[in-house]
Amino acid sequence: MPLFDVYPLYNVTPVKAKGVYVYDENKTEYLDLYGGHAVISIGHAHPKYLEAITKQVAKLGFYSNAIQNPLQVKLANKLEALSGCKDYQLFLCNSGAEANENALKLASFKTGKSRVVAFKNGFHGRTSAAVAATDNKNIIAPINAQQKVTILDLNDIDSVKTELEKGDVCAIIVEFIQGVGGLDQATANFFEQVDVLCKANNTMFIADEVQSGYGRSGKFFAYQHYNLTPDIISIAKGMGNGFPIGGIMVHPDIKPKYGMLGTTFGGNHLACAAGLAVLETIEEENLMDNVITMSEYFIKIAKTIPQVKAIKGRGLMLGLEFDFEVSELRKKLIYDYQIFTGGASNKKVLRILPPLTVKKEHINQFFEALVDALEE
Ligand SMILES: Cc1ncc(COP(=O)(O)O)c(C=O)c1O
Repeated sequence: MPLFDVYPLYNVTPVKAKGVYVYDENKTEYLDLYGGHAVISIGHAHPKYLEAITKQVAKLGFYSNAIQNPLQVKLANKLEALSGCKDYQLFLCNSGAEANENALKLASFKTGKSRVVAFKNGFHGRTSAAVAATDNKNIIAPINAQQKVTILDLNDIDSVKTELEKGDVCAIIVEFIQGVGGLDQATANFFEQVDVLCKANNTMFIADEVQSGYGRSGKFFAYQHYNLTPDIISIAKGMGNGFPIGGIMVHPDIKPKYGMLGTTFGGNHLACAAGLAVLETIEEENLMDNVITMSEYFIKIAKTIPQVKAIKGRGLMLGLEFDFEVSELRKKLIYDYQIFTGGASNKKVLRILPPLTVKKEHINQFFEALVDALEE
């Protein structure tokens, strides 16, 4: 049976990975500055992570959400401590799209309303309501297009006010740093005004931290660079370092009801063991400090490269913008210099999303290759 052919593939077959490196079947070493779409947070095959998963699967890999699972409670407490999000409640699921789907559904339950406001060039996943809130016609099927969504320009606070005051908007969903779109950020004033308007109009403010969360921006969540309080925070990607786990953190004002949300696999024992190992490693290895130091180092070097027209993003969620499309450059970096980087909807942006453990030597390796590739 052939695979359903929906992905354009690079001709590389990784079979092993360690730290910030990935190895193919010929033992060729690749520097991973993409982390498989911002997923690898604590580094590939981290020993603590391996031990936690191995021990847990030997004991109990899975049981349903019909029983007590103290690992979920431990994960929730650790997440509260590291994120500083006091008294939020955790619901666990399996992916970023699922997290946003649950966030939107909860916003609709809470407010009794059904229209969503989202922003141009955003990306929130491919499930029903999440994909409808995504500004890309190619991935929205007619079944998704039934959702009531209004897409606005980032920084257009007047339009946000007009839409919210109509009274039917259950949620605004925001990426504080756009990932797939190409690392754009709105102004602090815009984000903070959105928060005020949400509170005034009974609209839930959903922070999509699926990509920007878990320390990648230099703070635990990217919204924490601003003075605002999201009602729901969606998380996934770096949360499991490759193990599929996602979730929503729900403000204490939103009260749960049995049956409101649910999942078979979400929050299973193995996923929680992976998630706990990630949080403990972020704390023990001071990875958020490393994000800040490595980000500064990266940006300092990037500024010296004349072909780089703009440096976008924050922390280790960065983009280098050129005045040409980067697809050939990405190919060159993979095939000639053995370095993985990412692309974006903005075709002139090269995305850099390394494991949060990345060191100066890896950044140097990247820039030596980039300068060489740009000169060819
Ligand atoms: C900001 C954001 N939200 C949601 C998603 C969807 O996550 P997933 O692919 O795990 O469903 C992504 C994936 O790239 C994302 O970047």
